[in-house]
Amino acid sequence: MFCLTRLICFSIIKQRIIRLLFLALVLFTLMVLIFSNIRWLPGKLARSTIQIQNALANLSARVQLNTPPAKNRTSTLPPLITNAPMETRPSKDPQKRVHTYGYVINEPDKCKDIDPFLILLITVERWQKQARQAIRITWGKEDFLPGVRILRLFLLGKDLDWNDEGQRSLVEESQMFHDIILHDYLDTYYNLTTKVINGLNWISTYCPNASYVMKTDSDMFVNTEHLVYRVLKPDGPPRLNYFTGHLMTNGMPIRNLDSKWYVPPEEYPEESYPLFCSGTGYVFSGDLARKIVQVSPNVTWIRLEDAFVGLCLDKLGVLPVAPPKNSDFSPLRVGYSDCDYNQIVTSHLFSPGDLMYFWNRLQQNKYTCVLNQ
Ligand SMILES: *[C@@H]1O[C@H](CO)[C@@H](O)[C@H](O)[C@H]1NC(C)=O
Ligand SMILES: *[C@@H]1O[C@H](CO)[C@@H](O)[C@H](O)[C@H]1NC(C)=O
Ligand SMILES: *[C@@H]1O[C@H](CO)[C@@H](O)[C@H](O)[C@H]1NC(C)=O
Ligand SMILES: *[C@@H]1O[C@H](CO)[C@@H](O)[C@H](O)[C@H]1NC(C)=O
Ligand SMILES: *[C@@H]1O[C@H](CO)[C@@H](O)[C@H](O)[C@H]1NC(C)=O
Repeated sequence: MFCLTRLICFSIIKQRIIRLLFLALVLFTLMVLIFSNIRWLPGKLARSTIQIQNALANLSARVQLNTPPAKNRTSTLPPLITNAPMETRPSKDPQKRVHTYGYVINEPDKCKDIDPFLILLITVERWQKQARQAIRITWGKEDFLPGVRILRLFLLGKDLDWNDEGQRSLVEESQMFHDIILHDYLDTYYNLTTKVINGLNWISTYCPNASYVMKTDSDMFVNTEHLVYRVLKPDGPPRLNYFTGHLMTNGMPIRNLDSKWYVPPEEYPEESYPLFCSGTGYVFSGDLARKIVQVSPNVTWIRLEDAFVGLCLDKLGVLPVAPPKNSDFSPLRVGYSDCDYNQIVTSHLFSPGDLMYFWNRLQQNKYTCVLNQ
C-alpha cells in the first residue's frame, strides 16, 4: 500500500469510503420509498415510522452506555469496557517484551502533597533543550490555570552520546526546573515504546491518583486551557477507563521498508491494529497508567508506541473514544487563526520559536472570537 505518511493513507481511505457509503444509503432509501411505499403510503409509512422509531430507541439505548446523561452531571460515567479483559501471558522471548528500567534522574516527590488534575508527559531528546524551555513558558506552564494543578514531565533515556558532561548539564537543568525523568535505557526512536511505558510506570509509582494524563511530543502546540476546561472539565464527574485523542481507525502496519513507520511482519503479523490514538497527543484517565503498565509485559512489543498502547487497551477491554466536538487533536499542523486555535487541542510540527510566537498571539487574542458550542 502506498502511503505518503501514516496519517494520509488512513484519512483518504476513510473519507472516500464514508462518502460512498453515504451516497449509497441516500439512493437506497429513495428506491425503497419509491418502489415499495407509493401505493400504500399512509398505512405503510405510519408503520415504518414506528419501526424506525423503535430501532432508533434501541440504538440510543445502546449508545447511551457511552454518553453521560445530558443534564445529570453528578453521576459518574460508566467505564468504557467493551469486552471482558483477556487473560494473556508474557512472551518467552525477552526481545518481545517491554521492560521497565531504574531512574538516573527522578522526581519522586512531585505528587507528595497534592494529586494533580493533569500530568503532561512529554517525550523529548536530550539535545532539545530549547524545546523544553519553550514548553515550560507556554503550554507546559504548571501554574497557567488558577486552581488547576498541572504537572509537567519530560521523558528521557540515555542517548548514544551520553557522557559525564551531558549528565552534569542535565542534572543542573533538572535541579532548576524539577521536570526531568531520565530512565536507564538507550534513548532511540526504536525505543519510544519503552520510553512511554516507563513514563506511565513513573505515574503508577509516584502519582497514581492523578485525574488525567496527556502524552505528547516536544514539537507540539497544545491548547492546555481548552483541554482542561472543555475536554476534561475539572468540575465534571471523575472518569475511569477514559482514553481520547485523534482516533486511528483501520490502522494497518506499513510494510514499506523505506518508511519511518515500517513494521516487519515478524514483529506484528496481523493485518490491522485495534483502534488507537495518534501518539502526537492523547489523553486518558489516571487509572489507566497503572493498568497499561500492568498488562504491557503480556503484550508483544512493537516499535510504534501509539499502536502498542492501543494493543494494551484492547487487552484491557478499553475502547478509545472521540474527543468532544470542536476539540480537534490534530496530528498535523493546523494553519493558525485565533478562532481555530481556540478550538483545537493539538497542532503538530512546531519549532520552539514558532511555539512561543503563536502561543503569545493566541493568549492576546483568545477572547476575541465566539466559540462554537
Ligand atoms: C433491540 O435490539 C435487541 C437485540 O438486538 C432486539 O432483541 C430487540 O427486539 C430490539 N428492540 C427493538 C424495539 O427494536
Ligand atoms: C443523577 O443520577 C443518579 C444516578 O443515576 C441519580 O441517583 C440521581 O438522582 C440523579 N440526579 C438528578 C438530579 O437527576
Ligand atoms: C500476564 O501474564 C502472567 C503470567 O502468565 C499472568 O499471571 C497475568 O495474569 C497476566 N496479566 C494480565 C494483565 O493479563
Ligand atoms: C533499548 O534500550 C535497551 C536498554 O538500554 C537497549 O538494550 C536496547 O538496545 C535499546 N534498543 C534500541 C533499538 O536502541
Ligand atoms: C491515592 O489514593 C488512595 C486512596 O484514596 C490513598 O490511599 C493513597 O495514599 C493515595 N496515593 C497517593 C500517592 O497520593
